Amino acid sequence: MRPVQIAPSVLPVDFSKLGEAIVALDAAGVDLIQWDVMDGQFVPNLTFGPDIIASTRHLTMKPYEAHLMVLTPDVMAKRYVEAGCQRLIVHVEACDHLHRTLGNIRELGATAAVALNPSTPPDEVEHVLDLVDLVLVMTVNPGFGGQSYIASMEPKIRIVREMINRAGLADSVDLEVDGGISPATVRGAAAAGANVLIAGSALFKDPQGLGHAVSEIRAGATAAFRG
Ligand code: DX5
Repeated sequence: MRPVQIAPSVLPVDFSKLGEAIVALDAAGVDLIQWDVMDGQFVPNLTFGPDIIASTRHLTMKPYEAHLMVLTPDVMAKRYVEAGCQRLIVHVEACDHLHRTLGNIRELGATAAVALNPSTPPDEVEHVLDLVDLVLVMTVNPGFGGQSYIASMEPKIRIVREMINRAGLADSVDLEVDGGISPATVRGAAAAGANVLIAGSALFKDPQGLGHAVSEIRAGATAAFRG
């Protein structure tokens, strides 16, 4: 069974102090760092180009993953791998040929992952589990941080967990959730089978600091996780 991992979304940081935020997140004990890449078309927001990510790569040894909330992942994938992202997450909803897209990402030398928006059925990923090292079940509608956790996604998380386990991939494929994850919501997601927890606003608004927030979410996930 894969370990519990806590990863921040970089989305809520003060972008005038991006480098300092990356150093602080590393020091806070996160396991990896997620960049929410948005193109203003797949979602109504525009965020990080590859050069911004590349400019921070030297500041931490922690793995980077790019959550590509973009309409054209095939066009963008190479640049984000070159920017230093070890994993690329593409959305089912943006891929006409998902199996090929995931294979292309692996050929670039990165690990591939697939994301499901709240309304997308879990069986959309059933035939690509052998190509990914992570499935992301969105627990908000993508585009912005600070949204409320959609608890009705928990049955879907459970189904994806069962799919991974039934395929014999419990030791190689992570189940990630992203959106509204906090000390108050993490236990429900972990109990349903999520072992990688993405948190943005909950980390940065903790009055006791990033390290405390990471520890709180990690403790909740570890106590509740049912793989
Ligand atoms: C949505 C983003 C957010 C972000 C986390 O597109 O992907 O989910 O990572 O935001 P919080 O943790 O503030 O909900």
